[in-house]
Amino acid sequence: MTPKLELHLHLEGAAPPSFIRGLSKEKHHDISGIFDADGGYKYKDFWDFLKVYEAATSVLTTPEDYHRLTLAVLEESAASGVIYSETFLSPDFCGGRDVGAWREYLHAIREAADQAERSFGITLRGIITCIRHFGPDKARETALCAAETAGDWIVGFGIAGDEKVLQPKDFLWSFDCAREAGLHLTAHAGEWSGPESVRAAMNDLGVERIGHGVRAIEDLALVDELAERGIVLEVCPGSNVALGIYPSFRKHPIGQLYDREVKVTVSTDDPPFFHTTMAREFEMLHEAFDWDDGVFAKLNRTALDAAFCDADTKSRIAKLLEG
Ligand code: ADE
Ligand code: ZN
Repeated sequence: MTPKLELHLHLEGAAPPSFIRGLSKEKHHDISGIFDADGGYKYKDFWDFLKVYEAATSVLTTPEDYHRLTLAVLEESAASGVIYSETFLSPDFCGGRDVGAWREYLHAIREAADQAERSFGITLRGIITCIRHFGPDKARETALCAAETAGDWIVGFGIAGDEKVLQPKDFLWSFDCAREAGLHLTAHAGEWSGPESVRAAMNDLGVERIGHGVRAIEDLALVDELAERGIVLEVCPGSNVALGIYPSFRKHPIGQLYDREVKVTVSTDDPPFFHTTMAREFEMLHEAFDWDDGVFAKLNRTALDAAFCDADTKSRIAKLLEG
């Protein structure tokens, strides 16, 4: 199987529904309303998705739960050929942004990641994310958790959540705090809002990567600017199609962005929610754009260059890519 790198994966969003259902039964915590008849996650639109995501996450209440989750998620990713992954982690969900509690969750997640590296040959690094609709005050506490635990494993800081709420500059303090702690920066933008949102993330927060960013295609001057400045897009085509931003892979702008020399990478975002895997993303891109192993090797190379991990880790992953 083609080896793959994934830069945009929400840990809770990657939780298999069976895993969440099992945990909810163990804890007698009824969240049966979030599942459909086939046992998958059920939601109406993006905003409902965010609610279902938070309901599913509410059963993850201990570091041990996150240990089990991390192992389950990495086993799935490795089965798709992923050899390096960066995952979004939210102290909001892991100990309510208390630094001491967050350290315990992080310890459990890292232990599981080490175990998965030995068992499945996949390397994981963490990006701490604040949640836009939780507001700037909570984001500050999240940034402090990030600054306290920044290092060779927590390598980045970002923002996810409802792009229609507030502005990137409302989170400037948090991004400055994370940058001063040596963290790399990324922000979700250009998913639910258009080119201005991408510009604001890039210019006001100074991020190196944009989560999604695909709606930049609505302004070709911005597309050229992204290409010239070498800003990397963490594109999640299956997520965008499942949430109805584009009707199909064929109509997804990743093909045009790639042709216009924007640095694009491919990820799954929240794979079970969108009925996808990294293997499926690659297959669908092959079908839609006739992309071959040469293109996929280039996407991997872009992802490796844009990865937030240190140089030693990058050269180890590069050797694995070379086979
Ligand atoms: N959190 C989890 N998935 C997300 C997405 N696609 N956009 C914004 N926030 C998210
Ligand atoms: Zn995302």
